[in-house]
Amino acid sequence: MLKTVKKLNKGLKGEITIPADKSISHRAVMFSSIARGECIVRNFSSGADCHSTLNLFKQLGVDISFIDDKTLRIKSNGVLTLDSIPLPNPPRRRGYESLICDCGNSGTTMRLVSGILAGENFDSTLIGDESLSKRPMKRVIEPLTLMGADITSVDGHAPLTIRGQKLHGINYNSKLASAQVKSCILLAGLNAEGKTSFSEPYISRDHTERLFNYLEADIKTEGTKVTITPSQMVAKDIDVVGDISSAAFFIVAGLIVEGSDFVIKNTGVNPTRSGILDVVKRMGGGIEILNERIVSGEPCADIRVQYNDSLKGCVIEGKDIPRLIDELPVIAVLASQAEGNTVVRNAEDLRNKESDRIKCLVNELTKIGVNIEETRDGFIVRGKKELSGGAELESYHDHRLAMSFYIAGLVCGNEIAINGFEWTNISFPEFETLINLLG
Ligand code: S3P
Repeated sequence: MLKTVKKLNKGLKGEITIPADKSISHRAVMFSSIARGECIVRNFSSGADCHSTLNLFKQLGVDISFIDDKTLRIKSNGVLTLDSIPLPNPPRRRGYESLICDCGNSGTTMRLVSGILAGENFDSTLIGDESLSKRPMKRVIEPLTLMGADITSVDGHAPLTIRGQKLHGINYNSKLASAQVKSCILLAGLNAEGKTSFSEPYISRDHTERLFNYLEADIKTEGTKVTITPSQMVAKDIDVVGDISSAAFFIVAGLIVEGSDFVIKNTGVNPTRSGILDVVKRMGGGIEILNERIVSGEPCADIRVQYNDSLKGCVIEGKDIPRLIDELPVIAVLASQAEGNTVVRNAEDLRNKESDRIKCLVNELTKIGVNIEETRDGFIVRGKKELSGGAELESYHDHRLAMSFYIAGLVCGNEIAINGFEWTNISFPEFETLINLLG
């Protein structure tokens, strides 16, 4: 679908409530499916990725039903058993027949679920769409194999064929700061023999640790090291806070569209996720954090954003990166409207997302007049240029690129078009409706 976007000639005003966090929605369904008891998950994400996780656990026999379009009831006895798998020919024994589980476009689904299924007593095969089948899976296969898992891949890529085994705990030092890898190993450790520890160079988002804690798993964190002792989680109601990665598009829009002043309600502000707020402050942007509170173990707040015509470029690197990895495309758009250079380093893993986000971002933003240069592990934006627009931009089937380009379009001199805009449904189907609400 080709979407056209025109310059906005007046500021964005009013108030919106940002929809559910994608990372937490995935975890709410996964963890409640292996926790014992019944619970309600409120404000579940309507994005396609989270529905891939939901459908997968339904397929695994977990009793999940919708109370309304954003509220789920999940009932589990705490174990996944083949007896409850509603298939005509269920894979009754190890090595008999593999259960095919479709993860769609979702890396979080594939990487986290592999940690659960590796320790079950049945076989499964995780498949994904064209994009997911190109994404690196060695990062989870290697540590899971050290725990005794039996996983076959296509040269480190999906499909992943998992022959369920009893796993044992390990001490794992990851070179990469990745919440997906960390969560995969902690999920495997929950059901393994002995303790499992995971360390990473910088802290990545800690939603798994927080939700494990809330659901009474035996988990301890010391700096960047997390240790899980095998334990049974207990189901509890979960309220999912709003997604700061979705709010990021609005934060940037508010800062760069002249005359804007609005409030984004109910946004998750977990410090391991809120790097964008620090970057905006460093750039001199006007945001206010209001009404801070804790919801189901997660910090949450309302955010007031105001237009600012004196933003300055900054350096984003090292421990900043895991705290804003998904926001870097829209931060490039913000940097184009700031005085001076914005330099992003140590973000090479951006090349392994739904697209090569360094190359694709640079290709497309260059077309509308952004002065942006690709580097090995990031990019440099030389800012404060009028953006010409007047071009068709490719989304590369990447939801976050499509929405970042839309925000750039709001300040371009000429109309732009975005090809593949429907990919925004992966994480944020409500995106354009909310823009229109403020516009
Ligand atoms: C996620 C972790 C991040 C992030 C992704 C969601 C998660 O990936 O980019 O969108 O929910 O754990 P990595 O762990 O690969 O950095």
